[in-house]
Amino acid sequence: MREYTPENITDAVLEQMSTTPDPRMKEVMEAAVKHLHAFARDVKLTPAEWVKGIEFMTKVGQMCSPARQEFILLSDTVGLSALVNIMHDKTKVEEATGASLLGPFFRENTPVFASGGQIAKDLKGGAEVVLYGRVTNSRGEPLPNALVTVWQTAADGRYDIQNSIEEIDCRGIFRTDADGNYVIRTVRPLGYFIPLDGPVGQMVMAQKRHGKRPAHIHFLISAAGYRELVTALYLKGDEHLEDDVVFGASGDLIAEEKASDPRSPIKGLPSIHFDFSLARETEADRKAGRVGADPGAITAGDGKATAAYGAPPPEMLAAEAAKKPGFLGGLLRGK
Ligand code: BEZ
Ligand code: FE
Repeated sequence: MREYTPENITDAVLEQMSTTPDPRMKEVMEAAVKHLHAFARDVKLTPAEWVKGIEFMTKVGQMCSPARQEFILLSDTVGLSALVNIMHDKTKVEEATGASLLGPFFRENTPVFASGGQIAKDLKGGAEVVLYGRVTNSRGEPLPNALVTVWQTAADGRYDIQNSIEEIDCRGIFRTDADGNYVIRTVRPLGYFIPLDGPVGQMVMAQKRHGKRPAHIHFLISAAGYRELVTALYLKGDEHLEDDVVFGASGDLIAEEKASDPRSPIKGLPSIHFDFSLARETEADRKAGRVGADPGAITAGDGKATAAYGAPPPEMLAAEAAKKPGFLGGLLRGK
């Protein structure tokens, strides 16, 4: 009778799984088992720690709903989403705009706007901003009729879905014109805490991380025959461009707001100019999918979940306020 040891158990599992008919499933599962076992041996995982890990993953699953994907948040905060995204981006066949995270706040259900439409229903005291530019192929030729989907926080730093699953705000679908131009009116987004009111937030706070993303605007751009571009523009000057809690911000995607740009198609408003280029689509691209998804597309439900996101814990808000000089910082510090 065989006796398992820490050294031979990995091979025993691999041997048993060797009957897997799907070659890719076999490859992925073999690697997963090897790395999991190596991890457990490396850290000398104790039974109590193993249970703690199971409890944590259980809470992550229980937090998922049609309005919230805590597993994607976990993947984001340990840099796995960014890694998969970067690896996928490297497989494109032509130079093109770099990818960034889709994030958990993307919604399939997004209203269509005419060029120049304002996506924010209420400016909430924020500054109106024009986003404009061109969508081209890698040779700089315009891509007319490309779909440009944008979503971002409102001026209060919250996404619509964080208020209620029914709310639709600060997101829109636009089409490029005959010269590949897009024009969008929006409100300046704010940097924000990722959702910290669940198990992933507990992990982030236990690690004493700040838990914030720099201010950004998400884009999903598609045109027939081209690889779909999932990306985001990060606003120059944000304090967390270098230490984004989900590792999405990168230097090639920094956009600068200009107070008065003579080339802006809408005068009298600050504007951000950014040109996007798309790489030709390959057969593999059609199967690759996106790093991220509308939570409603993963977790089926009646769509009635509300208040699915809580506010950041008071201690995180207080820590943030403590860093800020002046009246508001003092007020939040209780001075
Ligand atoms: C976002 O950009 O919307 C986002 C991405 C990853 C985690 C949380 C939020
Ligand atoms: Fe975002």
